[in-house]
Amino acid sequence: MQLQVMPGAPLRGRIRVAADKSISHRALMLGSVATGVSRVSNLLPSEDVLATVRAFQQMGVRIQQLSDTDWQIHGVGLHGLKRPPSALDMGNSGTALRLIVGLLCAQRWSSTVDGDASLRARPMHRIVEPLSKMGARIESNAGKPPLTITAAPHLRGIHCRMPIASAQVKSCLLLAGLYADGVTTVIEAAPTRDHTERLLKAFGADLATSAGEVRLTPPLRGAAGLQACDMQVPADLSSAAFFLVGACITPGSDLTLQNVGINPTRNGVLCILKRMGADLRISARASVGGEPVADIRVRHAALRGCRIHGDDIALAIDEMPALAVAAAFARGNTEIRDAGELRVKESDRIRGVASALAALGVAVTEHADGLTIVGRTDGADGAMTAIGGGRVDSCGDHRIAMAFAMAGGGAQGAVQVARCEPIATSFPDFVSVARHAGLNIKVL
Ligand code: S3P
Repeated sequence: MQLQVMPGAPLRGRIRVAADKSISHRALMLGSVATGVSRVSNLLPSEDVLATVRAFQQMGVRIQQLSDTDWQIHGVGLHGLKRPPSALDMGNSGTALRLIVGLLCAQRWSSTVDGDASLRARPMHRIVEPLSKMGARIESNAGKPPLTITAAPHLRGIHCRMPIASAQVKSCLLLAGLYADGVTTVIEAAPTRDHTERLLKAFGADLATSAGEVRLTPPLRGAAGLQACDMQVPADLSSAAFFLVGACITPGSDLTLQNVGINPTRNGVLCILKRMGADLRISARASVGGEPVADIRVRHAALRGCRIHGDDIALAIDEMPALAVAAAFARGNTEIRDAGELRVKESDRIRGVASALAALGVAVTEHADGLTIVGRTDGADGAMTAIGGGRVDSCGDHRIAMAFAMAGGGAQGAVQVARCEPIATSFPDFVSVARHAGLNIKVL
């Protein structure tokens, strides 16, 4: 699938972007191993999340879709999962695979998890190593999927100082920790999204957090484990980010995104865009399912380049492709550093974003851990230099695809983005929501 965006159409009105992918995976996983029936409203029905639905269905969990947005999970309890008849296919989803392994390694049966070509290229030693210290037995293909998990006699709690900032690794260890003898403590390398911690508490787990440390005490053997609960999934700030950037860079834009998750361990994109001079207004703050949400109004503004580094990275890890597009339209240079993790996402996002920017005529330097993006300058005629149109390759990466579709709104010529199918992994309605907001977008 190829997308074409024609320039100049402002983004206006009020929209709802896709539901939160991270929270949707976690709601399904915890609901599956809780006792009782959990209802989830506004679950994201994207390919990644549906891979998680299918995996738990294969392990005997009844998961039903009640309406467009509402789902019901008949939890089987911590020890009620059944051995799946075949390997679990987690598709494109690193979150689904890394988190589910935390549960699988504690079962009394063996299993295999696998994924698509992109997922098969992603590093898994980051979970295999600490899980092995807990007593798990996992074999990989040179540190990558497929992973084969052999039934372990029992797991031990772990005190783990994480070498990298990763919510997936943290969450995987906490899920395994539910089955361990003794306490599991995870000390974070930098703050990362805390959806697992919030949801574990909502499901009744004994979890304490303080200054970068998470401490999980597993339920006593024979005691009630997690208790079913009802929850509502907010809109995904990572999906909102494309529209925030699109509106910032497209003259005449005035767009409100409704009910978006603004969890402080995840809202780096808002802080960074503000630093760049974005006109963002937050209103209607509320709490939804234990997560802070708000409406975000964004208007076109002149952006300036900035430095994005250190703790910024984990707080906005998935928003870097969108921020790179914002940087290309900003006055002055933007430097993204400490972001080597971007090389092991759904694609090598440092390389992919650099190539896509270059295809639009933007000067960019690639570093091992980031990018320097040359922003706009004053042209000879006194006007700001423009970004031309062009053809870019998404590298089969949903976030690069959506970020560069948005670049089309602010560019001087049409932008075509090739290989956009993976948008369905996180934001199946992207094209129709974008059109509704006013983007002149066409599927070629
Ligand atoms: C996620 C954590 C992040 C993020 C991913 C979703 C999660 O990955 O990039 O898209 O839901 O926990 P890492 O933990 O690898 O940083």
